[in-house]
Amino acid sequence: MRMVKPAAAPIAISAAVPDDEAAIAALLREAALPHEDFAGHLAHFLVARRAGAVVGAVGFELHGRSALLRSLVVAPTLRGNGLGDQLVRRLAAVARRKKVERFYLLTTTAEAFFAGRGFQRVARQAVPAAIAATREFNSLCPVSAVCMTRAVVIAAKS
Ligand SMILES: CC(C)(COP(=O)(O)OP(=O)(O)OC[C@H]1O[C@@H](n2cnc3c(N)ncnc32)[C@H](O)[C@@H]1OP(=O)(O)O)[C@@H](O)C(=O)NCCC(=O)NCCS
Repeated sequence: MRMVKPAAAPIAISAAVPDDEAAIAALLREAALPHEDFAGHLAHFLVARRAGAVVGAVGFELHGRSALLRSLVVAPTLRGNGLGDQLVRRLAAVARRKKVERFYLLTTTAEAFFAGRGFQRVARQAVPAAIAATREFNSLCPVSAVCMTRAVVIAAKS
């Protein structure tokens, strides 16, 4: 008998809601990313859902015209399919609507991923004071983490 592989359920990206907090925290914990302090920023978080389950997330902390992009995570079994890229694109659209001009981030694990999405290294000393004062900068990310920045709106790749 020939087995037919069931079609994978579609993945949809939408704004996070308070009920998503535990699922986002679990994904972040599994990826060894800071998960202690994101809940206060949930209004600026997106989640990817498949069959009702949260399988990805990303968000930003809003600091005037600058934002700290953080908590980008995709469930391990779904990595490498473009979902991380989609999450960053959708987050940029949200940030643009909030009049954010520039993203900053810290990463120990995904410098090449972000470099491929227009981010460039920047010295920690060169980031705006409000970004430098965040918990991620001060206590949650190791000093060895790379700091990167990008304008929120960038020209589309041809
Ligand atoms: C980083 C992460 C979110 C990327 O998600 P993803 O869905 O696998 O990414 P995509 O499929 O959109 O990848 C797009 C490209 O980036 C590359 N890429 C993905 N993760 C990468 C990583 N950690 N480092 C370098 N390149 C990476 C892919 O190979 C792909 O390359 P291509 O465009 O040349 O084909 C995912 O690997 C993850 O959850 N990692 C653990 C958490 C983490 O490190 N988050 C970053 C916190 S700052």
